[in-house]
Amino acid sequence: MRDRLLAAEKVKAIDWRDGVLYLLDQRSLPFEENWIACTRVADVAEAIGSMVVRGAPVIGISAAYGVVLAARARMAEGGDWQAALEADFALLTEARPTAANLFWALDRMRDRLGRLKEQAEPLAVLEAEAIAIHESDREANLTMAQLGVDLIRKHQGNAQAILTHCNTGALATGGFGTALGVVRGAYIEGMVERVYADETRPWLQGSRLTAWELACEGIPVTLNVDSAAAHIMKTKGVTWVIVGADCIAANGDVANKIGTYQLAVCAMHHGVRFMVVAPSSIIDMSLASGDDIPMEERDKRELLEIGGKGLGADVDAFNPVFDVTPADLIDVIVTEKGIIERPDTAKLAQLMCRKRLH
Ligand code: MRU
Repeated sequence: MRDRLLAAEKVKAIDWRDGVLYLLDQRSLPFEENWIACTRVADVAEAIGSMVVRGAPVIGISAAYGVVLAARARMAEGGDWQAALEADFALLTEARPTAANLFWALDRMRDRLGRLKEQAEPLAVLEAEAIAIHESDREANLTMAQLGVDLIRKHQGNAQAILTHCNTGALATGGFGTALGVVRGAYIEGMVERVYADETRPWLQGSRLTAWELACEGIPVTLNVDSAAAHIMKTKGVTWVIVGADCIAANGDVANKIGTYQLAVCAMHHGVRFMVVAPSSIIDMSLASGDDIPMEERDKRELLEIGGKGLGADVDAFNPVFDVTPADLIDVIVTEKGIIERPDTAKLAQLMCRKRLH
């Protein structure tokens, strides 16, 4: 399956070439494919905050390259460049609040910086670390795809239909995707007849990105409004809901795109299995439960306007970007270190002590 996944690779969101970070502008997809060149750390922070690049894993990878750009600029300024770099770490940290990979990647870059040997060339070391973060995410995607497919096979042979939410594919990661990597793998193995993609209001990651990615690979996809999900579970033979995560707390509560929680409630009601697919870098053991996860809220104009035009009454609006699915609604969390069925604090702690499976 690994080779067939690699062969099917068509879309990517991020490229590091000759010391420049190129990001595919996801705001204009699928109508236009514009690449934005980031040469300064401020470009990267702006790209993350304004959703040029989105999806927790690729946000973390972008931030790691952002640190390389920042270090290059600070070294050129002279003086105590490592002290000056702290302001750049802060800028990147503030770019988005929920995506745990962002903080994980920045911690890893800072840690690497702290272990620099006397004679080492700092820029080369930081660049190698960012590339390693990028590469390991790609590898993790492949491992998770295999584990997720094995689970689907174990539980019912064929998944006639899968429902997914937001975009968790190549655009959201350094490789093939988390949840969408499992979907891709299951399709390659002949185990999926149809994928239902929630459109994912208000940014439409489902209709603009997931449907586009799947269509590019010829995977049968049907788009639906978010509020059709329960009806689809009841009437369309859905056997799995498969989603990604932005942050997983120590007890297995999962923060993901707004609407995920209600999918989990509906899945339990309909006897549909619920799978969360995310690299272990999403798990933050310092957060005891979902209540401790910082949750992003965006501008209410995202709900009140479309293309700058008001949609109706000038009222207040509430625009939470993520919600928390309690661990007890989750059948399984798939990571590159292994799977956890019926997650809880003890099982997550055990998983975090393990090495990666590849
Ligand atoms: O606001 P977004 O588009 O960054 O939200 C993305 C999600 O919620 C994804 O499900 C999550 O980051 C996992 S991506 C592999």
